[in-house]
Amino acid sequence: MVIMSFFLALASCCQYFAFASGRSTSAIAVPNSPPSNSSLPIMEAFISYSIEFVFFPDFAGNPTSPNTFSNNLLNNIGNLTGTKPYIRVGGNTQDYVLYNASLRTAVNGTYDNSRSPDYPTTIFIGPSFFDSYNTFPDTKYIHGFNLGLGGNNSAGWQTLLDTVPLACKALGGDKLLWWEYGNEPDLYSTSAQGPVRPSKWNESQYIEQWLNGTRAIKSQLKKYCPEMLEADRYGYLAPSFAGTNNRLKPVTTWRDGLNADEDVKIFSSHNYISGATQPGVTLQNTLLNHTKTRLSISSQIATLTNLSLQGLPQSIPFTLGETNSLYNQGKPGLSNSFGAALWNLDFNLYCAAVGIRRVHMHMGTDYRYAAWQPLQTNKTSLGTKPPYYGQLAAAAVIGDVRKNRGEVRIVHLPLEGEMEAAYAAFVGGRLEKITVINLRAYNHTVNGTSSVLNEEERPSETYRFKVPMYCGGKVGVKRLCANGSDAISGVTWNGWSYNWELDEGRPVRLSNVTVGEVARVERGVVSVDVADSSAAVLEFGGR
Ligand SMILES: *[C@@H]1O[C@H](CO)[C@@H](O)[C@H](O)[C@H]1NC(C)=O
Ligand SMILES: *[C@@H]1O[C@H](CO)[C@@H](O)[C@H](O)[C@H]1NC(C)=O
Ligand SMILES: *[C@@H]1O[C@H](CO)[C@@H](O)[C@H](O)[C@H]1NC(C)=O
Ligand SMILES: *[C@@H]1O[C@H](CO)[C@@H](O)[C@H](O)[C@H]1NC(C)=O
Ligand SMILES: *[C@@H]1O[C@H](CO)[C@@H](O)[C@H](O)[C@H]1NC(C)=O
Ligand SMILES: *[C@@H]1O[C@H](CO)[C@@H](O)[C@H](O)[C@H]1NC(C)=O
Ligand SMILES: *[C@@H]1O[C@H](CO)[C@@H](O)[C@H](O)[C@H]1NC(C)=O
Ligand SMILES: *[C@@H]1O[C@H](CO)[C@@H](O)[C@H](O)[C@H]1NC(C)=O
Ligand SMILES: *[C@@H]1O[C@H](CO)[C@@H](O)[C@H](O)[C@H]1NC(C)=O
Ligand SMILES: *[C@@H]1O[C@H](CO)[C@@H](O)[C@H](O)[C@H]1NC(C)=O
Ligand SMILES: *[C@@H]1O[C@H](CO)[C@@H](O)[C@H](O)[C@H]1NC(C)=O
Ligand SMILES: *[C@@H]1O[C@H](CO)[C@@H](O)[C@H](O)[C@H]1NC(C)=O
Repeated sequence: MVIMSFFLALASCCQYFAFASGRSTSAIAVPNSPPSNSSLPIMEAFISYSIEFVFFPDFAGNPTSPNTFSNNLLNNIGNLTGTKPYIRVGGNTQDYVLYNASLRTAVNGTYDNSRSPDYPTTIFIGPSFFDSYNTFPDTKYIHGFNLGLGGNNSAGWQTLLDTVPLACKALGGDKLLWWEYGNEPDLYSTSAQGPVRPSKWNESQYIEQWLNGTRAIKSQLKKYCPEMLEADRYGYLAPSFAGTNNRLKPVTTWRDGLNADEDVKIFSSHNYISGATQPGVTLQNTLLNHTKTRLSISSQIATLTNLSLQGLPQSIPFTLGETNSLYNQGKPGLSNSFGAALWNLDFNLYCAAVGIRRVHMHMGTDYRYAAWQPLQTNKTSLGTKPPYYGQLAAAAVIGDVRKNRGEVRIVHLPLEGEMEAAYAAFVGGRLEKITVINLRAYNHTVNGTSSVLNEEERPSETYRFKVPMYCGGKVGVKRLCANGSDAISGVTWNGWSYNWELDEGRPVRLSNVTVGEVARVERGVVSVDVADSSAAVLEFGGR
């Protein structure tokens, strides 16, 4: 038993460096300051969340029984970046929701497995649904109204009129970020879960219905929450399309007058790098593949470029209002593994580097790619899941963007291989951190049997960076670790665990993980060994 735990204590990428084989590459040049084509500085709440509408009460609880676990996890990120993540309450179920004023529960959802086994598709919400907006302190929300049924039948339209007063009362004070009207309307006429528009529905009709509905929201606000129409308090996240090349095109929609009322405050697009049941999807080919992430985001960046040519101003940030790894709620064993934590770190930093201004990581109860499971169900155990650690590590790399310490910029450092990625973080023009992610898959178990005793055989890569002259001396090293890309537990960031079972998601320092590691800049070069399936963050200069 004692011997066993001795070996277990060694069995982590955080202790590997004594045995590292260290395949080495030539030094990667890091610029002295952000290149002139760097993207805009990081906005607050860059790492944000999108919670599937029908599951929002699970994640937030209600004032009598608030979900403090969720709040602890949001606080951890807020404490790193200075702002708690923003929460978009929306997704497919936003467009199925009808309001029932006599319903005593927050939600009455009925599943139809032929439409989706993962969320109900016949949904009523009662007045108490809106109480869930009163649980997380200091949190801003995007509330999604139903356009799917709102523009389809009279019950849908009535739901819009009935829920505006409830939502605006619940989101008064400083809780509303912006509204949203419709989720993924570019798929309404083709949706795999059942179309809600005729096949010829197009951008012009969408714009007409969107303007009609948002004007109805505005006139309800005028009646029930007039203070929410003040300048800078009324506006939308839109158009929230699933992709850049579906039946409705974002650029056409913008060009043809989506913003006729000048109330679009954030341009939202959705992104998934692939699908849970797409053939050929594996951890290494898909999530642990930097090329895949780059290609997926390149279509968003192309759209952003075209939108800018069509007059989208910089003051309307381009964001991913809903995103994650594999659509259809993720693939078991992939989306919930430590590999997905590494993917989250790579994806989020890549988005930051190329000009996506905010990412809302999507989740729902029992979703495979969820950052956490907010309550115990018979499908999924309550707890912090690996993706959370990747999001938190990205938040740690970005740091506090509100403190007066200068603009934060993330710069992508191209590497040779597609199973690795690196980023420089500049603060006020000076290099502050380098992040290296070794995306080579490393299995902790083989055919269900643990291979931890072979930890010393875990391969690693030595990365060398030629850093600016001003980065002398000691360099702090922090690591994102687990026993392998297939691990679904035992993840740590710089020795911290945020697991539910330790302290309900509050940070707990583990004594069996090495921290306080130091590297050195020698003749302008700093080098670091990074085990396969792990990441390291180098921190320069005691600032
Ligand atoms: C480290 O400690 C934590 C908390 O006690 C435990 O769950 C985990 O299994 C340990 N990890 C290793 C590698 O021994
Ligand atoms: C940081 O965490 C504490 C709880 O530990 C919380 O009270 C505080 O509001 C958090 N700060 C931010 C900026 O979220
Ligand atoms: C609305 O809720 C009440 C109370 O639960 C229920 O009796 C009624 O059938 C519901 N109406 C619909 C349309 O679901
Ligand atoms: C919940 O919705 C289902 C399906 O529409 C309905 O049959 C049932 O009566 C509803 N339950 C309540 C309490 O409203
Ligand atoms: C707005 O939509 C509602 C519901 O579909 C419809 O009743 C109304 O006529 C529309 N108004 C305009 C101006 O199109
Ligand atoms: C409503 O949705 C149905 C499919 O459920 C579709 O056939 C119909 O055309 C839609 N009606 C409108 C007005 O969009
Ligand atoms: C959409 O369809 C309508 C009616 O068929 C047509 O008048 C309009 O030009 C179309 N809009 C676009 C952007 O194709
Ligand atoms: C990574 O993804 C790209 C694009 O889909 C593909 O061409 C390549 O083979 C993948 N690489 C690996 C290691 O799977
Ligand atoms: C900046 O230019 C370099 C060199 O052409 C290119 O590799 C990089 O992708 C560009 N960065 C951005 C954010 O466009
Ligand atoms: C699992 O939980 C759901 C929702 O509470 C319930 O409807 C279902 O019957 C349960 N399934 C099993 C196998 O216990
Ligand atoms: C890890 O295990 C999975 C599932 O058994 C397998 O498909 C994959 O090839 C393995 N990867 C490595 C690097 O051994
Ligand atoms: C794992 O199982 C497969 C299929 O049963 C077998 O072919 C393979 O040899 C096993 N691998 C190891 C390392 O035991």
